Amino acid sequence: MKVATLGGTGSFGHALAQRLAALGEDDVVIGSRDAGRAREAAAGLESRNVSGATNEDAVRGADLVVLAVKADAALDTARGVATALGSTPLLSVASAIRFEKGVGAFPDPDELSLAERVQGVVDAPVTAGLHSIAAANLDEAPPQEDALVCGDDADAKQLTLQLVGKLVAGRALDAGPLASARALEGLTAVIVNLNRRYKAHAGVRITGVE
Ligand SMILES: NC(=O)c1ccc[n+]([C@@H]2O[C@H](COP(=O)([O-])OP(=O)(O)OC[C@H]3O[C@@H](n4cnc5c(N)ncnc54)[C@H](OP(=O)(O)O)[C@@H]3O)[C@@H](O)[C@H]2O)c1
Repeated sequence: MKVATLGGTGSFGHALAQRLAALGEDDVVIGSRDAGRAREAAAGLESRNVSGATNEDAVRGADLVVLAVKADAALDTARGVATALGSTPLLSVASAIRFEKGVGAFPDPDELSLAERVQGVVDAPVTAGLHSIAAANLDEAPPQEDALVCGDDADAKQLTLQLVGKLVAGRALDAGPLASARALEGLTAVIVNLNRRYKAHAGVRITGVE
């Protein structure tokens, strides 16, 4: 599978690209606004399977594209690659949380999730997931957590579940329609607060599902 990570120069996209290459994905492309920065990030991984390109070039020929830019850049980035993306599934991992000094992280007050707003600017089917997996946990020992994925397009969701299932020791679980991203993105604020309070990289495990 060819996987492109937009904003793959950042903490999450870079860790994801590294992990996917280590798992044997044969074609991983790190995307960036700057092709040189993307190529440098790819070269740093010392894997023949990883290359770098502009975000727009990275999506061409991909089977799955991961939108891993900073949350406040997600909509503009999606708009910018929409034509090149065509009908290729787009996985949004972004959460637009906000911070209040001395209090903690708050979920985005917008009625729609960021993933739903991204769906509004691309024709491609959008899925959402990986919000509860810390970049620091995308390492050789897969975290004992589940990965929750939602989306309205069955095929795109299946492809996303297939990919994210490789990243965790737990399960990749179908969390329903794309509207579930409102809860999944909000959960990021909860996890950030837990991490701060308990000095941890908290994750999620769902009980009662075989
Ligand atoms: N960090 C985590 O543990 C974690 C876990 C789950 C989900 N996420 C989600 O993953 C996404 C990335 O998180 P991160 O921690 O990796 O963020 P980050 O390192 O701050 O940024 C990721 C990349 O976004 C791009 N970017 C920054 N500003 C931009 C702009 N104005 N326009 C276009 N691109 C811009 C940059 O790439 P270039 O400058 O190379 O273009 C940057 O390397 C976030 O949406 C976050 O919610 C993060």
